[in-house]
Amino acid sequence: MKEDIIRLLLEVPQEGKDSQERLDKLKEEFTRLLRETQKEGIDQVIKALEKKGFFTAPASAGKHLNHRGGLLEHSMIVCCLALKIREQLASLDPEIGENVKKENVVIAALLHDFCKAITYKEAEKWRKDATNRWEKYMGYVADYSKLPFGHGEKSVVMLLMLGLKLDASELMAIRWHMGAWDLAFQSHEMKESIGTANSNYPLVTILQSADSMATHILEKRFEKKE
Ligand SMILES: [Fe+2]
Ligand SMILES: [Fe+2]
Repeated sequence: MKEDIIRLLLEVPQEGKDSQERLDKLKEEFTRLLRETQKEGIDQVIKALEKKGFFTAPASAGKHLNHRGGLLEHSMIVCCLALKIREQLASLDPEIGENVKKENVVIAALLHDFCKAITYKEAEKWRKDATNRWEKYMGYVADYSKLPFGHGEKSVVMLLMLGLKLDASELMAIRWHMGAWDLAFQSHEMKESIGTANSNYPLVTILQSADSMATHILEKRFEKKE
């Protein structure tokens, strides 16, 4: 990922300055990274991202990058972190660098939350203003009616339906990116599956770590601003 884009990505936009120009630059780097993987089916995926509103969707309906373009920002931050984690691991153990390719990280990180493109819709919401009075504002609510299939699972299914040739590590990483937060605890098979996926595919742990670091550490800077 280009250094100037990383700086732009982590810069907290001033009020009203979260400009289309900034989002356009992030989107350009996002699609450049995807195309660079030369993965079979990636062009259909890029078209679908546009059509489904991925680049303007929020990352959540709550506090976490809940604004226009938030999903693009989140996916780019996760990708930036995952690439750095991979690089550090590879410097300690070159075998990891051979097993987990840069393109695997890019595909898994940029597309792990693809399902969110069809999950949020704009809605009128209420909040307290500076004088503690209730005021209406336009926000987002979650709507799970389109392809109600889970979270990581939904992203995987949507990508496969578009013809993207995901390899096993990418499938596992996207499916299990929520870690134990997305686990059916009553299911022995689920617990065994996530444990095995983590053990067999380093990309699973790399993506889980990057997603968690993005959400709980780096993206906090955007919350403080509000
Ligand atoms: Fe997610
Ligand atoms: Fe995520």
